[in-house]
Amino acid sequence: MEKIKYIRLNQNNIDIVPSKIIIDDENLSKQDIEKFVIDDDNYCFVGMLEDRIVAFLYGYGMLRPDGKSMFYIHAVDVLPDYQNNGIGTKLMEYVMNYLKDEGKYYKFFVLTENDNIRACKVYQKFANKEEQVLFSNSL
Ligand SMILES: CC(C)(COP(=O)(O)OP(=O)(O)OC[C@H]1O[C@@H](n2cnc3c(N)ncnc32)[C@H](O)[C@@H]1OP(=O)(O)O)[C@@H](O)C(=O)NCCC(=O)NCCS
Repeated sequence: MEKIKYIRLNQNNIDIVPSKIIIDDENLSKQDIEKFVIDDDNYCFVGMLEDRIVAFLYGYGMLRPDGKSMFYIHAVDVLPDYQNNGIGTKLMEYVMNYLKDEGKYYKFFVLTENDNIRACKVYQKFANKEEQVLFSNSL
């Protein structure tokens, strides 16, 4: 999977995105992504194999009242046929390096289910802390 290029999407390169991105339960239109990336604190990264998006990650920066910002990774998806080939790891590596170079955030976090073994394996490579309780409800 050496030929995969990892890219952060922005308003200048958005044309590499097809009209829809469907990966796992993500079903996003190009317009949705275009609107999302206008905000500098919103990030979409893709893994491209030639002109095909095979991996996708999005997240956002979150400002704390003390001025320190954290980065929340909301979704990481690799197309089913391409999973378990190191692409999720490479995508995370690219994103971690990108964010470190940018220097805006002091910490990242990502959530997944205990039984999502692949996701846990990948995130464990980048995290130094594993905490697990999440409470949520719709608003
Ligand atoms: C989770 C996901 C993004 C990971 O990406 P990926 O490209 O498949 O993952 P990688 O190939 O980089 O790494 C998978 C790791 O899990 C390990 N693994 C896979 N199946 C395993 C199993 N049954 N038991 C133990 N380890 C396993 C692999 O060995 C590899 O670890 P290694 O690099 O140490 O060998 C991808 O599988 C995916 O899109 N899954 C569906 C959507 C999803 O669950 N997203 C995350 C939601 S938070």
